[in-house]
Amino acid sequence: MDLTHRPRRLRQDRIRELVSETSLEPTDFIAPVFVDATTDSRIPIESMPGHERVPLEESVARVEEVLETGVEAVMLFGIPTEKDAEGTRAWADDGVIQEATRRITTETDAYVLTDVCLCEYTDHGHCGTLETGIREGDCGHASLTVDNDATLESLERIAVSHAEAGADMVAPSGMMDGMVAALRGALDREGFTEIPVMSYAAKYESAFYGPFRDAADGAPAFGNRRHYQMDPANAREALREVRLDVEQGADVLMVKPALPYLDIVSALRREFDHPIAAYNVSGEYAMLHAAAEKGWLDLEETALESLLSIKRAGADLILTYFAEDVATQL
Ligand code: PBG
Repeated sequence: MDLTHRPRRLRQDRIRELVSETSLEPTDFIAPVFVDATTDSRIPIESMPGHERVPLEESVARVEEVLETGVEAVMLFGIPTEKDAEGTRAWADDGVIQEATRRITTETDAYVLTDVCLCEYTDHGHCGTLETGIREGDCGHASLTVDNDATLESLERIAVSHAEAGADMVAPSGMMDGMVAALRGALDREGFTEIPVMSYAAKYESAFYGPFRDAADGAPAFGNRRHYQMDPANAREALREVRLDVEQGADVLMVKPALPYLDIVSALRREFDHPIAAYNVSGEYAMLHAAAEKGWLDLEETALESLLSIKRAGADLILTYFAEDVATQL
């Protein structure tokens, strides 16, 4: 037996840290924050223990809590006062995100990213304007879907309104074709050439978004999102999809969800030089909490291991509901 090679030599206590390949910092994280224009007190999100929808009045206080943990960036999601077919409250000057962004960027040093999408603002819960014509189910297999090109115009308005309110970065998440080019063009036309676009470039049609849809009240009223979000079966398509966003000028490329798609994170890492972001989504958070609540898993350790794995796979930044807890642990 040849035991010249004994990897265990480097696993002893005092050497482990020196040979560690991956480390996590609070500055790797972006913490999602939910601002709810329909409430004047904080509402706990049942399926995401520890998270709340906060009223506008508390948005600054909420972000200050995040900053205290060492996390420096937040991603804002809004729940509007009213919804309509077009999602017009998404680009209103006095909209929930516009107001929150204004307050947070004036009163704190947080780096503010905004989610540019329509599903929280449309009464049907889809990520854009619906095509006119055939109704879902009318002739068996036909289904109503989102009108890509009409939606791009709405997304441009949203991004510009967020930038005007002071957003530091905009993140289109609707998986519309051409959304990055549309946003880049609109931002540049309005003089926001320095605002980066983080594209939810490879966003899958995932069942792991369940708790978020409760949190942000954005579940589709009918059907699903498979006409625009990606098929979980496809990896090559992700490269193609992401390459298009790169050509359109995306500054940061995101994969979403994270844990079930680490192969995609690592493929993007190899293929592109851009910063890669991964979104450790609501379901990934909820499942660890649920298991921990039953005493089946250790929450702190599994959360840390999850985020470490996402970083090891190649993500530079991680959007995660664990941001504050893990930052405090570090
Ligand atoms: C909006 C959006 C969603 C998430 C982030 N932005 C919901 C969706 O696509 O259904 C999900 C985030 C999460 O589950 O944590 N399009």
